[in-house]
Amino acid sequence: MAPLYKKALIIGATSGIGEALASRFHAEGTSVIVTGRRREALDAFVAKHPGSIATTLDVTKLDSIATFAAEITKKHPDLDAVILNAGIQRPLFFDRPNGVDLNIFNEELTTNYVSFVHLTAALLPHFQKLSKEEDKDTSLVYVSSTLGLLPTLVRAPGYCATKAALHSFVMTLRQQLEDGGYPRVKIVEVFPPAVQTELHDTKHQPDLVNGGEIGMPLAEFIDRMCEGLRRGDEQFAVGHGEPWLKDGGFENTRVTMFKQGQKGIKEALKRFVKG
Ligand SMILES: NC(=O)c1ccc[n+]([C@@H]2O[C@H](COP(=O)([O-])OP(=O)(O)OC[C@H]3O[C@@H](n4cnc5c(N)ncnc54)[C@H](OP(=O)(O)O)[C@@H]3O)[C@@H](O)[C@H]2O)c1
Repeated sequence: MAPLYKKALIIGATSGIGEALASRFHAEGTSVIVTGRRREALDAFVAKHPGSIATTLDVTKLDSIATFAAEITKKHPDLDAVILNAGIQRPLFFDRPNGVDLNIFNEELTTNYVSFVHLTAALLPHFQKLSKEEDKDTSLVYVSSTLGLLPTLVRAPGYCATKAALHSFVMTLRQQLEDGGYPRVKIVEVFPPAVQTELHDTKHQPDLVNGGEIGMPLAEFIDRMCEGLRRGDEQFAVGHGEPWLKDGGFENTRVTMFKQGQKGIKEALKRFVKG
């Protein structure tokens, strides 16, 4: 299988989807740079995947992101993809006494959404430069969730909202880059279903038993995510969300409405916007 990218940075690759995707990329010939907080997991990845590079990163340390991005892109001018994948999921019970820890809410929002905006702002100039000055295709791939489209996991209201925020951000980002003349910077959003990873582990969600067994087997998900990346769709779901993004599906309709609506607003704003 031809490599999808020349060199990919995977944010959050110490377990689950990020680790398995990095491993698949490596097997297919993409050079990978893996990140996460757990040094020992990064070292284990590098030991198993010769030539891969690891660097620790805590995405909630927002002040460190600009420096991280500057160093990575300076050291790796051939970086042509980033997979923004780090994420946590925590339950919040507004119906129970002491069921809501706002520190957890803040951590989830920062990890799953705010850090992605900071990473985008810090890394995007590199990808814009590659596409404009060096005529290369580049990709920013956002790992979202079907819960960002339909918040059916009611026990995790903060999590669902972070993914909905991410989806809204990604739609406007993609449109800005299209309008701004960057068609070769691809903005891709992936909507996984529940997948068997550490996301639902009892260590993170103590009220769950065998949470790691929830969802689609990881290898099957990675196969299907890679198929979607190869198809080149700008957004795609795997599993139960797939029909939502096809003809007649509610998200497909929403995208059509978005495309029409944003054009109308742009037109209406013309006489109010300077320059
Ligand atoms: N599994 C599912 O059911 C499912 C469904 C839909 C979407 N997703 C999304 O898929 C993505 C990957 O999750 P997963 O299921 O693979 O879970 P996972 O096995 O728990 O992996 C999460 C990854 O995110 C990293 N991470 C978390 N907090 C971080 C931080 N502060 N700084 C840097 N890295 C951080 C973790 O690394 P460290 O702990 O080493 O920092 C780990 O590599 C997430 O965005 C998740 O929302 C998962």
